[in-house]
Amino acid sequence: MVISGDLVDTPLEDEYDHLVGLLAPLAVRFVAIPGNHDDRGLMRAAFPDQAYAPTTDASGALNMVHAVGEIDVVLIDSTVPGAAHGEIDADTLRWLDATLAASTTRTALLFLHHPPFVTGIAHMDAQNLRNAADLAAILQRHPRTRLVAAGHVHRATLTTFAGIAATICPAPNHAVALDLDARLAPSLKVEPPAFHLHVWFPGDGFGSVVTHHVPIGDFDGPHPFFATDGRLL
Ligand SMILES: [Fe+2]
Repeated sequence: MVISGDLVDTPLEDEYDHLVGLLAPLAVRFVAIPGNHDDRGLMRAAFPDQAYAPTTDASGALNMVHAVGEIDVVLIDSTVPGAAHGEIDADTLRWLDATLAASTTRTALLFLHHPPFVTGIAHMDAQNLRNAADLAAILQRHPRTRLVAAGHVHRATLTTFAGIAATICPAPNHAVALDLDARLAPSLKVEPPAFHLHVWFPGDGFGSVVTHHVPIGDFDGPHPFFATDGRLL
C-alpha cells in the first residue's frame, strides 16, 4: 500500500502517533511519502521502518524505491518545507535519475504527492508540481515507468504525463470540489471515500497497468449473476 502524502493535517507529533495506531492493524506492508501537510522530521521519527534513501542532512527529502516482485515502486518527495506547492529538489532529481538508470528491464511505478499536470481546478493547479519538465525529462531518459500516480487533489483524475498514464488518487476523507471555474472560491465536498488499486500485467514493453477505482464502505452484495445450475438469475 502506498500512502502518497498528507498523512496528517497540522502536522503535529500527536497526529502521527494517532496515525501509527490506525495503521497498526494493516495486514499489508505500507510505504509512505510526505505531502505539503507533513513534516519530514516527524515522519522519519513516526515511521522508523520506512527505508528512505540516505540524504546529506536530516531534513532531506524522503525518497524510496521498494521492489515488489518484478516491479520497482519508486516514491519521490515533491514537498517544499513550509510551502503548499510541489517542487522536486536537485538531490531528488539526481536520485530518481540514478534509481531509474539502475535497470533497463524492470517495470517502474512512480508515486509523488503533487500532480505534475494541471487538473482545471485553478486553486489546486496553482500549487501543483512546479518543475514538471525536469521530471518528464528523467522519465523519458529511462522509459520503464508505466504509471505516474499523484495525490494532493483528493479527487480521482486520469491523464497522461510524458507519454505515461498518470492518475490522481481519490481520498478516504473529503474531496476538493470539482469547480472548473477559476472565479469560484476554493471549497471541499464530502464525497464517497475511495482509493485506487493498480494491477500490473507482465508483457511486452514493461507490461501494462490497470487502475481500479474502489469505493470505501459497506455496500449491498455481492449478488451472483448465475444460479448453481448455471441459469442466469
Ligand atoms: Fe496535499
